Amino acid sequence: MNELRITSDGSHTLYSNTFREYFHSIFGAITESQHVFINNGLHYLKKNPVTIFEIGFGTGLNAYLTLLYALKNKQSVIYYAIEKYPLEAHDILSLNYTNILATESHEDEIFMQLHAAEWGKLIEIKSNFSIFKIKGDATLFLPDFYFDLIYYDAFAPEKQPEMWTYEIFRRLYGKLNQGGILVTYCVKGDVKRALKKAGFNIEKLPGPPGKREVLRAVKHC
Ligand SMILES: C[S@@+](CC[C@H](N)C(=O)[O-])C[C@H]1O[C@@H](n2cnc3c(N)ncnc32)[C@H](O)[C@@H]1O
Repeated sequence: MNELRITSDGSHTLYSNTFREYFHSIFGAITESQHVFINNGLHYLKKNPVTIFEIGFGTGLNAYLTLLYALKNKQSVIYYAIEKYPLEAHDILSLNYTNILATESHEDEIFMQLHAAEWGKLIEIKSNFSIFKIKGDATLFLPDFYFDLIYYDAFAPEKQPEMWTYEIFRRLYGKLNQGGILVTYCVKGDVKRALKKAGFNIEKLPGPPGKREVLRAVKHC
C-alpha cells in the first residue's frame, strides 16, 4: 500500500508502507529527479544516442523527465528499467507529474504510455525514445545488454541494504560502456566503498534542496 504526498515543489511522491520510505525527496520530487538523474546524468554525459538503465522504475518520473528531455533536445534514448513491485493503476493515475510538466497535449499521454508499455519488450514511445521494462529483482538480474548511464534509484540502504551491494555494482559495471556513469542520490560511506571496489571513480556533487551531496560514479576509459 502506498500513500500519496505533496512535496515542497508541489509535485507528488508516494510513501511505501511496505518499505516505510518515500519514493522521492519530500523537499521536491521533480526537483530531486531533475537534479540527480537528468542534470548530473543525462545532460552531463551528452551522449547521443544513449542507452540508460534505471534501477527501480516506480512512478516512472525519471523515465518521463528523460523522455521530455529527449523531445526537447533531439536526444535518442533506449531506456531500460527494472522494477520488482510495479505500481497499481490507481497510484499511477493519482500522480500530478503531467499537470506540472506537460506543455503540449501529447506530453500528457506519453506518461501513461510509459506505464502502459508491455513488460519484457522494446516499445517505441517516440521515434527517438524506446523503453524496455523488466519486471524482475535487481538483486538477481543479470543484464544481457550494455548501457551508458545508470539511474540508481533504489530505496535507501537503511531500508533495503541488499540493493546497494558490491555484487550488484560489479555486475552493472561489467555492462557499462567505457566512459559511462552511474548517478544516485545516496552518498553513504558503505555505498561509496562498494562502488569503488566495483571499479568506479566517485565524484560527490552538490545536492538538491534538503540534501547536501549526491553522487556520480564514473567508469573511466
Ligand atoms: C526510491 S523508489 C524510486 C522509484 C522511481 N525511480 C521513481 O522515480 O518513482 C525505489 C523503487 O525500487 C523498487 N524496488 C524495490 N526493490 C526492488 C528490487 N529488488 N528490484 C527492482 N526494483 C525494486 C521499488 O518498488 C520502487 O519502485
